[in-house]
Amino acid sequence: MSIEKKPFGLLASGEEAQLFILKSGDFVVTLTDYGATLVSFLVPDGRGGRDDILLGCSTLSGYLAKNPYFGATVGRYANRIGKSRFELGGKEYRLAANDGANHLHGGLKGFNTYVWAAETSEGRKGSSVKFSRTSHDMEEGYPGELAVSVTFTLDKEGGISLAYEARAKAETVINLTNHSYFNLKGEGNGTILDHEIKLAASSYLPVDSTLIPAGAPAPVAGSPFDFRSPKVIGRDIAAAGGYDHNFVLDRKGPGLFEFAEVREPKTGRRLTAATTLPGVQFYTGNFLAGAQGKRGGVYEKHSGLCLETQLFPDSPNKPDYPSCKLLPGQTWAHETLYRVIC
Ligand code: GLA
Repeated sequence: MSIEKKPFGLLASGEEAQLFILKSGDFVVTLTDYGATLVSFLVPDGRGGRDDILLGCSTLSGYLAKNPYFGATVGRYANRIGKSRFELGGKEYRLAANDGANHLHGGLKGFNTYVWAAETSEGRKGSSVKFSRTSHDMEEGYPGELAVSVTFTLDKEGGISLAYEARAKAETVINLTNHSYFNLKGEGNGTILDHEIKLAASSYLPVDSTLIPAGAPAPVAGSPFDFRSPKVIGRDIAAAGGYDHNFVLDRKGPGLFEFAEVREPKTGRRLTAATTLPGVQFYTGNFLAGAQGKRGGVYEKHSGLCLETQLFPDSPNKPDYPSCKLLPGQTWAHETLYRVIC
């Protein structure tokens, strides 16, 4: 086990971003404090080498430029808020409309654009980096100062745990996620259409043309959204219009619930995902088209897949969904665990 820290580059403000390289067993994970971002995940290739199964950028400038949230921590409210407004405590709050008329992934300057404070540690569970920051009252239009941290821990068995904690000084809304794009063949090696996925979700949220959930969950049975048994992603993707939907997890109680298993047929690699959250945005990189990747590479549509664990999209405006409200004195604590089996 080891943790190495090295400079990643300078922001326009003069702030310096760092890289944190965590090694555990045969696995190597690189993170940056810029956006509390997962930069790479090197896993054994069975021939003495390693493949990087995360899409992203090689340099800080790639992350500073407009990019599709590669590996980033997304907040204060991940996913969409319809019409960029919500009401809380009888008051209306207006947010930046940065996705048509809707608000997406925390707005114009979301959590993914800040340099977070970082603290490293090595413990029984593995090598960890804890990133933290304070989001001020009315930052991006959200009420209430919020102290937030995400602790990434790499264990020897190819598991990365993402443990979130947040506390607010005044009532607010919250939805934190990580936006890693996985490709189990290795980033830059084509699309994920040949990957097979199993999702423990009997229902999902149908969306309108702007990707805002229309209302109540619908059963996946008989639809292109049925992944209750393993299915090749490319099979029904055209009928679904690309996957970019919240699946309602079939959890049986509180705690970590393993909801996904992805398998890549050529390498035989598998990825499992577990979470304490009620939903996951299964996104197949539909908007990736010529995105600048690592080492001069370019990512085309469907080059990676995201399993963004979350509360449901637009929950500030949907009282029937699991609540996204956080009150002073409460702690928002959630965990997501991705594990690669080679
Ligand atoms: C999420 C959204 C997508 C897209 C990506 C970023 O997954 O659901 O619609 O905005 O983020 O490109």
